[in-house]
Amino acid sequence: MPFTANKAFKARPRLLASAKDMHYVSDDGRRILDGTAGLWCVNAGHCRAPIVDAIAKAAGTLDFAPGFQMGHPASFALARKVVEILPTGLEHVFFSNSGSEAVDSALKIALAYHQSRGEKQRTRFIGRERGYHGVGFGGISVGGIAPNKAAFSSQLLPAVDHIPHTHDLAKNAFSKGMPAHGASLADALEAVVAKHGAETIAAVIVEPVAGSTGVLIPPVGYLERLRAICDRHGILLIFDEVITGFGRLGTPFAAQYFNVMPDMITLAKGITNAAVPMGATVVTGKIYDTVVNATERGIEFFHGYTYSGHPLASAAGLATLQLYADEQLLTRAATMAPVWEQAVHSLRDAKHVIDVRNLGLVAGIELATRDGVLGARAYDAFVDAFFNEGVLIRTTGDIIALSPPLIISEEQIWELVGKVKRAVERQV
Ligand SMILES: Cc1ncc(COP(=O)(O)O)c(C=O)c1O
Repeated sequence: MPFTANKAFKARPRLLASAKDMHYVSDDGRRILDGTAGLWCVNAGHCRAPIVDAIAKAAGTLDFAPGFQMGHPASFALARKVVEILPTGLEHVFFSNSGSEAVDSALKIALAYHQSRGEKQRTRFIGRERGYHGVGFGGISVGGIAPNKAAFSSQLLPAVDHIPHTHDLAKNAFSKGMPAHGASLADALEAVVAKHGAETIAAVIVEPVAGSTGVLIPPVGYLERLRAICDRHGILLIFDEVITGFGRLGTPFAAQYFNVMPDMITLAKGITNAAVPMGATVVTGKIYDTVVNATERGIEFFHGYTYSGHPLASAAGLATLQLYADEQLLTRAATMAPVWEQAVHSLRDAKHVIDVRNLGLVAGIELATRDGVLGARAYDAFVDAFFNEGVLIRTTGDIIALSPPLIISEEQIWELVGKVKRAVERQV
């Protein structure tokens, strides 16, 4: 099972049988409030009719079309729709099937871009501690999570550095919105440039808000500083928006929320409301033109997946973006953010809680570690929440991450927080 304690799971399985809107139904018939939009991905809520219908229709019309030297209209239509809601300048979409593939595609595009413009020595990637970029060899290499690499460390990408993460409980605990302290942590990038030389560095990849390692929100001014340093040295900046994309922060993408424009964006999850797997890497016109114009004749970029732009995923994506537009879901997190902030910060005085942080419709609730066993208390709270409170939460270490579907009501926000509080306070 993926990222699962197999023995514990099999001793007491947690099985989901169906879902609708804000709820799952477990295999024993209990309604489970979805506090995590599945895995940060079901942004419009579950089994939404327009998406279900579009997938069914596509399955009966064009089951598959090869993407190599061929195409089909829906994938181009979806690419255009995605570009419409992205910041101006991000213009070309490369489809894949997951966030991991979107990231590996971005890293390859970065190398191809520098090679195409005659700087093929720019091969080094810079990631960040506590970054998560999926599980491909590229993604775990630039990622900053030690357990994800431990068994594979002998075969990671060879030229990768990591700058420090921005999580600083001593200075920023219980921040509402962006924390005040830490912009200067971006300057670590200058130190990496000084060490290796800018002419060796291809790209920096960061999640604008680190999700998987516990909702680490960038300090005020930090992302601007990263952008400026990249500009100074001709380094590409990649935002991994697999979680923050499609409305999580109250704007379509985090790039708009923070008003910092990357050279590439990686997407997945919410692009199809998670109903069909899909990933996407979006690049500027300059990157696309540079790579494509470097080859006179034939294939310009030797990369792709059998299921790139799959017809069912494309149909799901088109229906999803229409639903987001019809229900104004890409900005709904901004409307709900004040209630969300008030609700999650009501956990401040709950037993075991040492930090609460929030932005848009996402929150991290950090618990004190029990007896030096990292993650045990939060895991027990997660199991308790599922079986005794009927709520799905997500934990990483001793941090509970909440990221509900963007359709959540005010009443459901308070219900979610109340259930989390009870589950946490029952733990020793
Ligand atoms: C920021 C980020 N990048 C990449 C991924 C990998 O996506 P996938 O699991 O679809 O491969 C994730 C998954 O959670 C993610 O949060």
